[in-house]
Amino acid sequence: MVNMQSLHSFGLNNSAKGVETLSTIEDVEALASFSQPYLILGQGTNTVFVNDYLGHVFKVDIKGVDITKAEIGYRIKVGAGEDWHKLVEHLVSVGINGLENLALIPGSVGAAPVQNIGAYGAEFADYCVSVTCYDVKNHAVTTLDVDACQFGYRDSIFKKTRPQRYVILFVELTLPFQWSPNLNYKGLDHLPDNTDARTVFDTVMSIRQQKLPDPKKVGNAGSFFKNPVIALSHYEKLKQQNPNMPCYVVDDHTVKIPAAWLIDQCGFKGKRWGAVICHQNQPLVLANQGKATGAQLLMAAREIKKTVLQRFDVELENEVRLIGSSGEVTL
Ligand code: EPU
Repeated sequence: MVNMQSLHSFGLNNSAKGVETLSTIEDVEALASFSQPYLILGQGTNTVFVNDYLGHVFKVDIKGVDITKAEIGYRIKVGAGEDWHKLVEHLVSVGINGLENLALIPGSVGAAPVQNIGAYGAEFADYCVSVTCYDVKNHAVTTLDVDACQFGYRDSIFKKTRPQRYVILFVELTLPFQWSPNLNYKGLDHLPDNTDARTVFDTVMSIRQQKLPDPKKVGNAGSFFKNPVIALSHYEKLKQQNPNMPCYVVDDHTVKIPAAWLIDQCGFKGKRWGAVICHQNQPLVLANQGKATGAQLLMAAREIKKTVLQRFDVELENEVRLIGSSGEVTL
């Protein structure tokens, strides 16, 4: 068994049967001869090993950043093993703008399409041209264009197919020559219209550093739950009882409620379950204060989920992937 504590950002002291690094497309193709269970991992910033995992873990580490010019913008082809934040920082430093709202999101480039990472009014899908993967089912390298990726809120075809069918090799992004800042999200809306990308990048970094614990210092996996999307009729009922309840309109029939607000209202901020704590600044984040266990984390998540359901009749869904002894665990 191999200890997984330093291989996932929540840092639980659990193991996996084996860990291997896949550095080339040929390494990934060799997966065809490998029987399940196994798991593909990037930097482990959105996956928590809540128990010892009785399968193998493969870390994709294909490198490379290739920038070319197309008609209306830059085309950027990036290996799955590159670090997302370093990519954003590099692009902004060479004057290729567009990803600055997605600064400081932990994790690898290959993980970005899986849950369609998003923050401060932007998401991966906005810039994606295609994702090239190894299709374990058909034993072939295949390129999925942005529509085929079926991106949704923290969702994609890569998240939906279980056991994992597509192993991401590289992504292709497009960033426009004609750039203007995206300042709509709260926290950026005070900046003037002519703000440059570096300032947006620095502002996003500073908001994140204030609100979110640094996974290198305090174990965590970012937002633990997704923001729930509920029917407009349900929202209107809740709004009568909770006039201050915030929401984001999704379409004519549904709205998204910040899970942080629901959890905050239930009084969970700062609550502990052993060494697991519901974060003071952002209650959507559960953190590991040192020697947390998978059982404590599951207890915390289940209690939060149950309480929010009882009080608001809203079902929270975990955003992080929870891995137990034989694979995915549900709350
Ligand atoms: N809120 C509270 N109490 C708090 C904190 C927040 O009530 O203590 C309420 C406020 O109404 C606030 C709202 O929650 O306006 C939203 O909070 P925030 O702007 O921090 O964003 P979020 O919806 O909680 C999402 C993403 C984050 C992303 C931020 C910023 C999800 C699940 N999470 O959080 O992504 O950084 O927006 O865009 O969509 C992640 O996915 O790991 C992640 C950190």
